[in-house]
Amino acid sequence: MKTAAATLPPKPRSAGAQLIESWQWTASQIGKGLWLALNAPREISARPDHVPADRVVDFDFANMEGAETDVHAAWKRLHDGPSLFWTPRKGGHWVVTRAELIDMVLRDPETFSSTEVILPRGSKPLRLLPIEANPPDHQHYRALVMSWFTPKAVAAMKPGIQERTIEIIEAMLPNGRCEFVSEFAKRLPIAIFLQLVNLPMEDREKLLEWTETAVRSKNALHILSSFLKTNNYIEGWIRRRRAEPGNDLFSAIVNGRIQGRPLTHAEIQGMLTVILFGGLDTVAAMLAFMTKFLAENPGHRQQLIDRPELIPGAIDELMRRYGIVNLSRLVARDCVMDGVRLKKGDMIHIPNSLYGVDERRHVNPLDVDFTAPLKADRHASFGLGIHRCAGALLARMELAIFLEEWLKRIPDFSIAPGERARTATGQVNGVTYLPLVWKTARA
Ligand code: HEM
Repeated sequence: MKTAAATLPPKPRSAGAQLIESWQWTASQIGKGLWLALNAPREISARPDHVPADRVVDFDFANMEGAETDVHAAWKRLHDGPSLFWTPRKGGHWVVTRAELIDMVLRDPETFSSTEVILPRGSKPLRLLPIEANPPDHQHYRALVMSWFTPKAVAAMKPGIQERTIEIIEAMLPNGRCEFVSEFAKRLPIAIFLQLVNLPMEDREKLLEWTETAVRSKNALHILSSFLKTNNYIEGWIRRRRAEPGNDLFSAIVNGRIQGRPLTHAEIQGMLTVILFGGLDTVAAMLAFMTKFLAENPGHRQQLIDRPELIPGAIDELMRRYGIVNLSRLVARDCVMDGVRLKKGDMIHIPNSLYGVDERRHVNPLDVDFTAPLKADRHASFGLGIHRCAGALLARMELAIFLEEWLKRIPDFSIAPGERARTATGQVNGVTYLPLVWKTARA
């Protein structure tokens, strides 16, 4: 499960030196936080000279019209406009909308650097790793986490995930109703995450709250504050894991080495933040979009009940149709794309969720077909290129176990009469409210 690099003992450091490093890190974070707050970009940025006027669209991905009722339809409307445009929002940035261009950006880290993946540029106090590392450093950071997500390592987690999934479903089963997002979609991934990093289950609520704000808040200061709270929390655990390493991913990162040297505080913080923010909200969002679809489409639901072997393909098909991640890149060198000049230092937003619904790549992309043949280029929902999701196997397994166990126990469910599901946009598209009902044995 673990690489030799991850298991090497840390270089001995005195407790005093570690404490000083930790204080320095905390003080620098507060300083950076204040600086970022004072230098937050204006609401509307001026159009730079190299941006043609006919490529400007006033678009704010955190405030899209209609996103609260159907976030994917709101994104899809971008396909009515240019394949590449510039918006003055969030510090001013480009947006690519077509699969072909999303491919180009994600597969060319030399031109489109991962140094900054969150908009506005510089809005967070730490470097997210391995996402914000470029080659050649990227592979070293990635190797440290990948050993925890190999097929063997993920298979070893299966019984625990299955048990937790069944436990949560069976607890709500007799009620005949639930608000799926808060009662299931968020509870399962946080439980799995806490198990993976061996942190106390009681910390669940606050971690969920910080993650939600970090990935979906419209307010840059709130996002920043949730990053700082999370980092402060992680800080306390770094000290404990250094003193008493365990057999968990957190200990492997804290005590791991990259090219023979121990990781710095900033690197440890950056890696744990990605595992936390990357692993929680994404899985919760996918669980909720899948469930919303199945609640509204009894025919598709029945197909999975009759033919559970379709479940793995159905997960990919639903990930294609309801993609969730919308991250960015920094243009690292001048280039021309879609006939437009991009300049070094520009930011470019990549809504991965638009990739799978591009009719230039897929026939009838808004239709969902669980029997569609699996094709490698079907979606970019786990990303493309060197940063492709490290936790993809684990995520797929969580989603598959959920579908199998839920459909066995609650085969017939729908959105509560008179109610509507609510969705949201952000760095990750999500469902914020999903009231479900089903018949119980008592009914
Ligand atoms: C359905 C659930 C998930 C989705 C849709 C998803 C999506 C993504 C995407 C799109 C990226 C690439 C980001 C980029 O190119 O900038 C990514 C990277 C990553 N994801 Fe996930 N993710 C999911 C679940 C998870 C889980 C469960 C974990 C771990 C617990 C995880 C850990 C990571 C890590 C460590 C990276 C960085 C990989 C690198 O930079 O090399 N993800 N994920």
